[in-house]
Amino acid sequence: MTDRYAVIGNPIAHSKSPLIHAAFAQQTHQDLQYEAILAPLDGFSDTVDSFRQQGGKGMNVTVPFKLEAHRYATELTERAEIAQAVNTLKFEDNRILGDNTDGAGLVRDITLNLNCPVTGKRILLMGAGGAARGVILPLLQQQPAKFAIANRTPQKARDLSQQFAAYGQIETGDFMGFSGQSFDIVINATAASLNDDLPELPAGIFAPDALAYDMMYSTVRTRFLQHAAQQGVQQLADGIGMLVEQAAESFYLWRGIRPDTQIVISRLKS
Ligand code: ATR
Repeated sequence: MTDRYAVIGNPIAHSKSPLIHAAFAQQTHQDLQYEAILAPLDGFSDTVDSFRQQGGKGMNVTVPFKLEAHRYATELTERAEIAQAVNTLKFEDNRILGDNTDGAGLVRDITLNLNCPVTGKRILLMGAGGAARGVILPLLQQQPAKFAIANRTPQKARDLSQQFAAYGQIETGDFMGFSGQSFDIVINATAASLNDDLPELPAGIFAPDALAYDMMYSTVRTRFLQHAAQQGVQQLADGIGMLVEQAAESFYLWRGIRPDTQIVISRLKS
């Protein structure tokens, strides 16, 4: 019988996950079906319950349900527990494993696809919401020379630095608080791009040869990447690579096989 998987979110119509997982399944000859499921905002657990009752084997979870998925899981991987957010669920009998593959996906995209080591680099993470939270641990595990979180509301960045204190030192502040400093990798994890907005960044924040990485993606260059380009940054990346890599990590958790991501990334980019 064909195994069923799905991505659940609200909204969900524009999700690229069904396309990505169909490509992975075809490439690795796995007999599986992957669909997109729209859950009502107050109906996450009912929707997942019914998918499981119909024999569903696993789910990807997207906005706005990652915190609810964290509560729904009966077991958590370390990275999901620390992130307090789950983007991947795996169902086995009564066991519901919650994982978070976002950070690993980001790190793989930066280090392998973009060929930019994080180790020894100065990293600035913009934003302190759910998207930022999910990527902090995997970034710290790469042992950057410096790790900073800038947020419009600096207290939220401070809270994160305390929460992750056991894993590394984190500098925090509002965006202008980083005036006079420069970073080798600047990652936009704010929701600002969604509104075609951009937090005001101090001049000189991008070191020479810096990588500007927007975790959002869109068919046109995001405001953050436009700004970085205007500042002379040449390495610009949006979140397509991360999207495919986090999907590959989920696929690996479910099926024990690592698909080739390059082909899928190229296809989505074109
Ligand atoms: P997500 O789960 O997608 O990260 P979130 O938890 O609402 O969403 O967090 C959104 C993040 O984007 C926050 O860091 C938010 O800053 P605040 O903590 O100050 O609210 C940031 N953000 C959203 N819109 C922004 C804007 N226009 N300028 C700067 N930061 C913005």
